[in-house]
Amino acid sequence: MAEMDWASSDPDEPGHQPVDLQTGQPHPARVYDYLLGGKDNFAADRAAAEAGLRANPNSRIPPRENRAFLGRAVRYLAGEAGISQFLDIGTGIPTSPNVHEVAQAVEPRARIVYVDNDPIVLTQARALLTTGPRGRTAYIDADLRDIDAILGSAELQRTLDLSQPVGLLLIAVMHFIPDEDDPWTLAARLLAALPSGSYLALSHLTGDFDPAAWAGVVAVYRRSGVTMQVRPKPDIERFFAGLDLIDPGVVSLPQWRPDPSDVGGPPSDAAVSVYGGVARKP
Ligand SMILES: C[S@@+](CC[C@H](N)C(=O)[O-])C[C@H]1O[C@@H](n2cnc3c(N)ncnc32)[C@H](O)[C@@H]1O
Repeated sequence: MAEMDWASSDPDEPGHQPVDLQTGQPHPARVYDYLLGGKDNFAADRAAAEAGLRANPNSRIPPRENRAFLGRAVRYLAGEAGISQFLDIGTGIPTSPNVHEVAQAVEPRARIVYVDNDPIVLTQARALLTTGPRGRTAYIDADLRDIDAILGSAELQRTLDLSQPVGLLLIAVMHFIPDEDDPWTLAARLLAALPSGSYLALSHLTGDFDPAAWAGVVAVYRRSGVTMQVRPKPDIERFFAGLDLIDPGVVSLPQWRPDPSDVGGPPSDAAVSVYGGVARKP
């Protein structure tokens, strides 16, 4: 079946633009979708994912555990932490349950701003957009490295009240930002714009538990044009500098507040290879 190269950003919007999906090269959102068993991916994405699976046959486990962590972290924030506004950067292709579904199940008035720079996420953003008495969402097509574009966007200003606490979600996105782009300063600049009582939830791939396998995956992805950088725990803890970490701190994902209903033993730390944590801005 022929695969499309161009799609509409949103045919119902006046002035919508055709979007080049760049199907000839793998994109992180679509590789991740493939590893999760989704259908929103193209031959180049599947080839990169399969090469990653050959380098590390456990490569489907991190996305699955990461989605579970995302759900637990957002439930914690919307519930126990009382957060009703979220800024989710590196949203990914809509995958149910999306952040607004999890948050609004706990706090029906929750408002969410989604941000991603991938063209296919833009074309599917409608699935993320809900407006009603029960809360609101917005989507911003922007690069995480362009903090001014994100914080200054009209969609964000209309949707979030930055004088009130916000849950900043940087879930499985910072490992696509290389050291030379200083991901720590990017996170710090975002947090600086949020008031006391805001939270950061972050997850990040690591090579700590299986260095050889992850060196192989990073090399395979880099060869296909996807910049990915796994980081050791101290580098991941740096994202939380100046914040108060919620128990149990920065841990292998299955150890972060597992649901009592989880059955069976968690996969090994080596199979998961993602750290995550949640922290409050004092
Ligand atoms: C692995 S997916 C994670 C999706 C979702 N946060 C989750 O945890 O299920 C990473 C997402 O980050 C996005 N991303 C990567 N680099 C980005 C950048 N510089 N700016 C904005 N989004 C980026 C990708 O397009 C992709 O959708």
